[in-house]
Amino acid sequence: MSETPSLLSLCIDALSQHLLCAEDHVSLLPAVYHLPLHLLLTLITRLPPFALLQFHHHIPFQDQDDETSSVNDSTNKRKRSTDWNLNSAWHKLFNLRWPHHVNQIESDDWQQLYWETHLQDCIDEATEVAIIPSFSGSIGDIHISDSILKYIGFVGHISHSTCEHSKLSYHCQQFGSHASCLRLQNVLCTAETSGLLRECKLQKLVLRCIRSKEQIDGLCKVLAQHCTTLTSLEFVHCTLSTDFINVIFGSLVIESVQKHGIQHLSIIASSFLEPFTDSLPSGLVSFLSSGRSLCSLKLSDNHHGRTFARALFMTLLNLSSGISVLDLSENKIAGWLADFKRRFLSGSHQSFGIGKSLQLLRVLNLRGNNLQKDDAESLRYALARMPNLEELDISDNLIEDEGIRNLIPYFLGASETCPHITCLKLENCDLSCAGVSHLLHVLSTFRGPLKSLSVADNYLGSQVAEALGNFFSTPIEVLDVAGVGLGSSGFQELQNLLKEELKLVKINISKNRGGIETAKFLSKLLSKAPQLIDVNAASNLMPIESLSIICSALKIAKGNVQHLDLTGHIWDYKPDQVSICTEFVHNGLPIFVLPSSSASAVPHDDDP
Ligand SMILES: *[C@@H]1O[C@H](CO)[C@@H](O)[C@H](O)[C@H]1NC(C)=O
Ligand SMILES: *[C@@H]1O[C@H](CO)[C@@H](O)[C@H](O)[C@H]1NC(C)=O
Ligand SMILES: *[C@@H]1O[C@H](CO)[C@@H](O)[C@H](O)[C@H]1NC(C)=O
Repeated sequence: MSETPSLLSLCIDALSQHLLCAEDHVSLLPAVYHLPLHLLLTLITRLPPFALLQFHHHIPFQDQDDETSSVNDSTNKRKRSTDWNLNSAWHKLFNLRWPHHVNQIESDDWQQLYWETHLQDCIDEATEVAIIPSFSGSIGDIHISDSILKYIGFVGHISHSTCEHSKLSYHCQQFGSHASCLRLQNVLCTAETSGLLRECKLQKLVLRCIRSKEQIDGLCKVLAQHCTTLTSLEFVHCTLSTDFINVIFGSLVIESVQKHGIQHLSIIASSFLEPFTDSLPSGLVSFLSSGRSLCSLKLSDNHHGRTFARALFMTLLNLSSGISVLDLSENKIAGWLADFKRRFLSGSHQSFGIGKSLQLLRVLNLRGNNLQKDDAESLRYALARMPNLEELDISDNLIEDEGIRNLIPYFLGASETCPHITCLKLENCDLSCAGVSHLLHVLSTFRGPLKSLSVADNYLGSQVAEALGNFFSTPIEVLDVAGVGLGSSGFQELQNLLKEELKLVKINISKNRGGIETAKFLSKLLSKAPQLIDVNAASNLMPIESLSIICSALKIAKGNVQHLDLTGHIWDYKPDQVSICTEFVHNGLPIFVLPSSSASAVPHDDDP
């Protein structure tokens, strides 16, 4: 039997309903703010989003310290309004509606995030309608479904079941001012949309599947309208011609200053229609040269070939932008620096690169580009132009041992500048034990501050253990040696080599077929690495006895370990084997990530 509602809750519910209505809240609100604090707090927790918006919006005094308002009795009110905890009320409403988002998001302003996300939901729903080929008509008139309207409190309330409130245009107009970050699909890139987004102060815009001239024209209107606030622009799955690129970047220039304010430009998984000649589209060049603000440029997985990459590199050398992140991953740019190397070696490099664009580069991502050993050598000359580079990723390229040898002079500081590399990734580069041992040896004497290294997914075999063991005594903090074929003998050797205290924080030794020796190595490691937080030891053919070895080591070490991945093993647990693990928790979460029990997955009744 349901409980009888109290008079109070009936009143509060009735009041919430009235606050949803435009005429009512104007007359009611002034009095509502004078309610005693405890009633107000109850009311706030019960208001549907749209009513809370009205309540929040019409507060007749400001939360900020404001000389004039503290003169008379509004002081009281000001103090009180900060007690109302409106931000946490918005946070709760957000959690309720988007429970999956919450863990990934931090915000100081949950109201802003609430309405921004709401508007995005409305836009996504309208996109589904507009994308049907037979759709013709106004995008703003597209109806938003009851399931969305219900969330904000609109359904079941007479005055809001009128058409206006269910149209996309209404939501853009009402809530647009809260939206700073939106995603638009091709069909929404129209002149009409720029009208709908009038109220938004767009900072970040993600554009998907833009293909036609019409869509580009619509987009340009939106861009021109928001060029003073936009800082981040991302194109995904778009098809771009040189003309398109020229007009898109043309529309971003802020007329009065002839500059743009974009800090992050990404073009991902898109295709560029014409093959590039020796120079980049003029729009892109002027974009790169007219914004001091640009700090990250990501052109990934766009089938860029070497010609494009070479033109881009030469252009960057010539300019003075402050780019700190350059991502050219997943293209096919082998040979892109050959020309540069030739000129460098012939001494004519003084004649190019008067600019300083690459001076501030901190992160360079060249993953998955078909690069080979010659590219690694050319890269060495190019790196000399990047004195502040901290992170270099050349994983998924067949550079082989010789490629590494070609790069090594860079780490020896043979170039003019002393390298500042803190993070180096060489995963899946077809390296062998000899190449990596040499590299590890060089890196052990490296003058720079290397903190993170990955040589994962190269078949190195157990012999690499010796070089690896010596490398452990450098100040390395993050080490990824997943899938390098250490085997039991490799882990055994490593145990013997662990002598001093290590600085390791994170290690990945997964996929190494180490068997029980993996556990013994871990147990030694735990005693030597007091700062260790994260261990991935998955898929190592460990027998279940490993669990108790690791548990007792963990108990003795009393370290900081927060996460220990042992998945990828087929284990039949006995209850006591699992229970020894459950005592290890960090922030309420279990430290051990265990494989699901094969016994519980397939229940057997016929155990002897
Ligand atoms: C202070 O009170 C007076 C009289 O009630 C009012 O006219 C004035 O606007 C108030 N000042 C502020 C800052 O609220
Ligand atoms: C670099 O600048 C020089 C001089 O301004 C110019 O002649 C050359 O074409 C530019 N190169 C590139 C690749 O932009
Ligand atoms: C190693 O483990 C970490 C997580 O512990 C993961 O982020 C990383 O991708 C893994 N490396 C490989 C090569 O799988």
